[in-house]
Amino acid sequence: HYNISPSPKKRKAKRFWLNSSPNPSASSERPTLPNLSFPHTPPTPAVTMAAEQSAEHFRGQARLPGFAAPRRYDLRLTPDLAACTFAGSVSVSVDVAAPTRFLVVNAADLDVSPGDVHFAPKGSGQVLLPVEVTSALEDEILIIRFNEVLPLGEGTLVIAFQGTLNDKMKGFYRSVYELNGEKKNMAVTQFEPADARRCFPCWDEPSFKAVFKITLEVPCETVALSNMPVVEEKVNGPTKTVYFQESPIMSTYLVAVIVGMFDYVEAFTADGTVAPLPHYLPQVSLSLSPLGGSCWPHFPFAGTSVRVYTQVGKSAQGKFALEVAVKTLILFKEYFAVPYPLPKMDMIAIPDFASGAMENYGLVTYRETALLFDERHSAAANKQRVAVVVAHELAHQWFGNLVTMEWWTHLWLNEGFATWVSYLAADRFFPEWNVWIQFLEESTTGFRLDALAGSHPIEVDVNHVDEIDEIFDAISYRKGAAVIRMLQSYLGAEIFQKSLAAYIKRFAYSNAKTEDLWAALEEGSGEPVKTLMHSWTKQQGYPVVSVKLKDGKLELEQTQFLSSGSEGVGQWVVPITLCCCSYSVQQKFLFRGKQDDFNLSGLVECQKKDDFWIKLNVDQTGFYRVSYDEELASRLRHAVETNILSAADRYGVLDDTYALCMAGKQKLVTLLHLIAAYKNETEYTVLAHAINTSLSIYEMMAVAAPEELVNMKKFLIDFLEPFAQRVGWDAKSGEGHLNALLRGTLLSALAELGHQSTIDEAVRRFNVFLEDRETPLLPPDVRKAAYVALMQTVNKSNKSGYESLLKIYRETDLSQEKVRVLGSLASSPDPDVVREALNFLLSSEGKESGLYICAPRSDCSSA
Ligand code: BES
Ligand code: ZN
Repeated sequence: HYNISPSPKKRKAKRFWLNSSPNPSASSERPTLPNLSFPHTPPTPAVTMAAEQSAEHFRGQARLPGFAAPRRYDLRLTPDLAACTFAGSVSVSVDVAAPTRFLVVNAADLDVSPGDVHFAPKGSGQVLLPVEVTSALEDEILIIRFNEVLPLGEGTLVIAFQGTLNDKMKGFYRSVYELNGEKKNMAVTQFEPADARRCFPCWDEPSFKAVFKITLEVPCETVALSNMPVVEEKVNGPTKTVYFQESPIMSTYLVAVIVGMFDYVEAFTADGTVAPLPHYLPQVSLSLSPLGGSCWPHFPFAGTSVRVYTQVGKSAQGKFALEVAVKTLILFKEYFAVPYPLPKMDMIAIPDFASGAMENYGLVTYRETALLFDERHSAAANKQRVAVVVAHELAHQWFGNLVTMEWWTHLWLNEGFATWVSYLAADRFFPEWNVWIQFLEESTTGFRLDALAGSHPIEVDVNHVDEIDEIFDAISYRKGAAVIRMLQSYLGAEIFQKSLAAYIKRFAYSNAKTEDLWAALEEGSGEPVKTLMHSWTKQQGYPVVSVKLKDGKLELEQTQFLSSGSEGVGQWVVPITLCCCSYSVQQKFLFRGKQDDFNLSGLVECQKKDDFWIKLNVDQTGFYRVSYDEELASRLRHAVETNILSAADRYGVLDDTYALCMAGKQKLVTLLHLIAAYKNETEYTVLAHAINTSLSIYEMMAVAAPEELVNMKKFLIDFLEPFAQRVGWDAKSGEGHLNALLRGTLLSALAELGHQSTIDEAVRRFNVFLEDRETPLLPPDVRKAAYVALMQTVNKSNKSGYESLLKIYRETDLSQEKVRVLGSLASSPDPDVVREALNFLLSSEGKESGLYICAPRSDCSSA
């Protein structure tokens, strides 16, 4: 048996194609495929005479050779939930497009014996057995060599294999859950980016799209799910064989299988749409089906079945996500002008889950905190997280699943776009959340990473499978989303939507590159989209535009912003927007050079006014920073104080000033002076940003200038106290979502600053809560703040607060509550307690929260 497991030595250097063309699809020697009924042609071979090659030739390549491509997989899997193993067989219809003695497929951590592999050319009646099956561990491939050259055209490759349901949360893995007080295993898949090969041998690259027909052999009492609906179930004693409908063509990373015990809630999308839509989309009113505790038996009209699966007994916690999902599917059908392509959409909460959620076609998986909502114990921040994650994953059903990136270099298309459009959906459904202001936090995170010399361009070369995981980062997601927003605002919402719909239609059931999107937008708008966007996606970093007012002219200069304070060499085509004394007239132009002067109409008039101000990057839709001369900066500060600027601009002025100050370009005192101008701030996100900014200055001072800490603390408490008094600990009746978010943020900040009356009140309320978890004194939105405050009172000789929090952790079955506790346990001033908290976090018990990673994409920052 070949045991295909990960290579023991980690590859360091990048690898390249051995021949001159690094990109197989760039080869001009593209053979004609005998079967052209498939819309996409996968990469062609880098070499034409595969027949002449040796197995060695296939090692160390970035991508699989293209002389044979899968068309249809018939996949059978038999997981053993008790033994944590699985057996499987795959029968792949393969299209052989060039003469070859080899077939090369991906496989890893699978047992395959040579006798379990054969190939049957179609119509020949022959079965060819391989003379050699080599597993190249480092490349995660199986090289299958035959004695003769395979006939061109169709044939069937059959491989039987065995594997382990692993504990690594990738490939085919097991997750543990509780049923009636007993621990049980479920079998789950997570294949993105390149782990389908850990479940079955396959062409595990996004451009090898194929049809999947999946069959599972599982215990009778379990629920078996996959991308498509079940067509038939046959019971055979204690097990049943579940046959799923054949899928449309799709990439391997989107295949999914789940086996376990679950409950669900279900609803249907009816024909309809979500009001209010912009004028350029058809206006039809929304009708939602009632929520059923199980399948709705006599549902009167056709629609897509949407289900949320949860652990047994928790299905009510799926209702909020279900409602969002139904609305989102209807919205995106309108927005992309293509119906949801599959007959059903299942969404499921998995207790052990590596990321936030995964967009498997028709079977989206989530960590519990990103899907479940408990009316009494989840916070407003949890609710928003669920809505945004659901919208993000459902956006992928079109953008990613229907139209798929050609290679991982274009991952950002998937992730940046889904991130951007999830805000569009959330804004439509919950306009009172002001999510476009909250979106600025995404940009800020993108800005922060991209200001490092070690950042990378949005479009990045990927030469080995190990490199893919690294790019699921703030550049692909957040900078990606921000540059899409910049482009949308430059082109206009209507043109942008129509061009996108054209792009989706053009590349449906196929693959696309970044260039293809630009081409569609360029066609739709007549604007130089490619030139504009190349400067943003092909080079790392972003500019800071310096603005000076001189002799009635505006002088602009762009330099690359780096947080180290040095200047990079990058240069961008910057879509400048500008307002002068009022929002009623906005100027727009592309700034291409390094430096330029601009004569602005109306500038002279405006300059005469007492409250004269100029703001560039209006509403912060551009991915660049602005540095104003002293006069302009002080005018803007005044405009912040008098609340003349929009909320997004108030955010932007603060965020740019903070970044410039941290890079040593401005004085700290300027920043503190500016923060004080936010004393009447009304917008949650802006105030939250001022608070976070202040706290990070405070933390830096604790190290760099401890003698100033007392003054700084007083400054911050004086700043925060009036807000806290207004907001209080108790929700006002009928108050909005943003107030709830603000209350948590404010009280947490005061608790972290050790504000005594906040701590006292927190402890008082917590003690009531400890006795009665349903008390109205400690609603979910302030619990994290109360826990942080409580931990301020804990030290190694008085650990009762810590013990009480552990009790809360152990007694709740809600992941969001566990995450809140874990997020506060280390807030003690005593280093020994902090150490203990960190050890708990890493213990097996700490992992029960489902909180595995603490990356920007995970749940650490939410309530
Ligand atoms: N496709 C990703 C999931 C993923 C992430 C797979 C990393 C493999 C590696 C999914 O669409 C996603 O982006 N999930 C986000 C949540 C989203 C709301 C930003 C996540 O997991 O954090
Ligand atoms: Zn995504």
